[in-house]
Amino acid sequence: MSTQATEVTLADARRSCYCGDVRENHIGQRVVLKGWVHRRRDLGGIVFIDLRDRAGIVQLRFDPDLISADGAAHALRSEFCIAVRGEVTRRPEGTENANIDSGTVEVVVAEIDVLSRSNPLPFQIDERDNTSEEIRLRHRFLDLRREEMQYNMRVRHQVYHATRTFLADEGFWEFETPILTKATPEGARDFLVPSRLEPGNFYALPQSPQLFKQLLMISGYDRYFQIARCFRDEDLRANRQPEFTQIDLEMAFVTMDDVIEVCERLIAHIWKTCLGIDVPTPMPRMSYHEAMAKYGSDKPDLRFGMEITDLTDALRQGCNFQVFNNIIKKKGLVRALCFEGGGEKLSNTDLRPESKFSKQVNRETGIRAYAWFKVDENGALSSNISKFFEEDALARIKEQTGAKPGDVIFMVAGTDTRAVADQTGRLRLLLGREFDLIDKSLWKFCWIMDFPSFEWNTEEKRWDPLHHPFTAFYDEDMEKLGTEQQGEMRSKAYDLALNGEELGGGSIRIHRNDVQEKVFAAIGITPEEAKEKFSFLLDALQFGAPPHGGLAFGLDRIVMLLTGEESIRGVIPFPKTQAGTCPLTNAPGPVSDEQLKELSIRAIVKKKEDAPAEA
Ligand code: AMO
Repeated sequence: MSTQATEVTLADARRSCYCGDVRENHIGQRVVLKGWVHRRRDLGGIVFIDLRDRAGIVQLRFDPDLISADGAAHALRSEFCIAVRGEVTRRPEGTENANIDSGTVEVVVAEIDVLSRSNPLPFQIDERDNTSEEIRLRHRFLDLRREEMQYNMRVRHQVYHATRTFLADEGFWEFETPILTKATPEGARDFLVPSRLEPGNFYALPQSPQLFKQLLMISGYDRYFQIARCFRDEDLRANRQPEFTQIDLEMAFVTMDDVIEVCERLIAHIWKTCLGIDVPTPMPRMSYHEAMAKYGSDKPDLRFGMEITDLTDALRQGCNFQVFNNIIKKKGLVRALCFEGGGEKLSNTDLRPESKFSKQVNRETGIRAYAWFKVDENGALSSNISKFFEEDALARIKEQTGAKPGDVIFMVAGTDTRAVADQTGRLRLLLGREFDLIDKSLWKFCWIMDFPSFEWNTEEKRWDPLHHPFTAFYDEDMEKLGTEQQGEMRSKAYDLALNGEELGGGSIRIHRNDVQEKVFAAIGITPEEAKEKFSFLLDALQFGAPPHGGLAFGLDRIVMLLTGEESIRGVIPFPKTQAGTCPLTNAPGPVSDEQLKELSIRAIVKKKEDAPAEA
């Protein structure tokens, strides 16, 4: 009687375990392994192959008998996909490799089958070389074979899994909301999809599932979550992609503290699962105004000090530096940073106007002046402008900034409060990064609270919501809505910052139709526009809407921080470039006239030379 098992070819034989999982407890066992040729070494007749799969690497040993008996072993090249059968043995003493988990064992190969050959590679997979990101993205299927990428994808998977199990255990139900939908304003442009069945009409891809999750609360589902794909057509940066993933959640009958408490435990659970790190909770909180004043950012990096001080009052008198005087008279402000020991670290070139530090303070954005002082060994302040300051004023600058001998004080002044805060904050970060002041081993979480509800948009001459327009505000501020004091209103919103990144943001929502209508009016949305864009929400708010609130974390940013990547492109399997393109698929690409016709669309493409000249 023939047994089925003996007839199974090596190619079809079930593998015993992943290559990276072979260990000493397999010694003496005959195993079947399948994977990719990572590296090949020919040592005087014996050939060693590092065989790789997503779990890691194991060393294969081809003794000369086998190599000469089986021509396939000779032909092996990088990235060939192979199957082997062989016995796991202990490596001879002195040949162990401490860099890999399977480093004390090797597999003596008895049989090999080449499952698939590989063309010569466009870049080496076993080492991080200088290959451009463009080339790596064009061959992303190879790039994803690299060890760092395998680690990043593993962490990404762990984040999905930890999120799902934690939230399901907390009573959240997972939902999917539409991708072909109407605009959801989150401050970016929409990606549009033309409708074939309704010529001239378009779907918008969701910037977030915000309105659907609110509707689910109104429907009574109480605790919702979704690992949601979001789409925003905005300028791209290292931490922004046009399509990205949110951990989106919403709860009914809750206060800000309730949402924050669940979110803190979710984050602590993710950090524990992925890195084994205990994140202390409750996490610290800071008001938006304090964050902007002390760190010049609403996502402060708290891994180093160098807090910003305000010198406006200290310089009202005793300062004959006209630029500062004029700024102070025009109700502007002067902010300062004290760089401890900066005198030794900064060269004279670093203090010149053309240095990267000076350039960081961009005068076009409402900044009128940038200056510095060195503190000499006797504690005296010196600089090219110190002669304009009376002794008293210099003493006040020193006292307020806490400067000591050897320090350097930077000052940024202007009439636009926000611009001064932003630019001082950026200078702080640049100094922190350039001079290694940031302790990279720290995880500094901080909730930013009490955001203003609205911000005056000077260009468009209108009020914009700082979060989205569905954000509730403190009841006592209600009377300011629609008045000149609207800018003083504080929203019930909260952002979680970590090490200088905004990890997530959320709020308690408006659950009354009349208040929502007033907010639309206060940000310049006419009743007709409100009806056209949001009638479904305004409608739903009239059918027993419960008080509710929630938050969304940027999943890609979480994985970026967990893995130590510098960009979210490193943690997204198939990301877009900074220019929003995909070198792998060549998206976005042209479509046929036929397709356009079907969609009732005509593309007007202006060649660069035909574009009207700029005035
Ligand atoms: P928000 O717009 O703050 O809030 O987005 C929430 C989080 O999503 C991440 N994020 C991004 N990540 C990558 N690329 C992008 N282009 C991008 N834009 C945002 C950030 C951010 O903190 N609906 C609300 C949430 C709510 O109120 O519940 C919202 O989308 O980490």
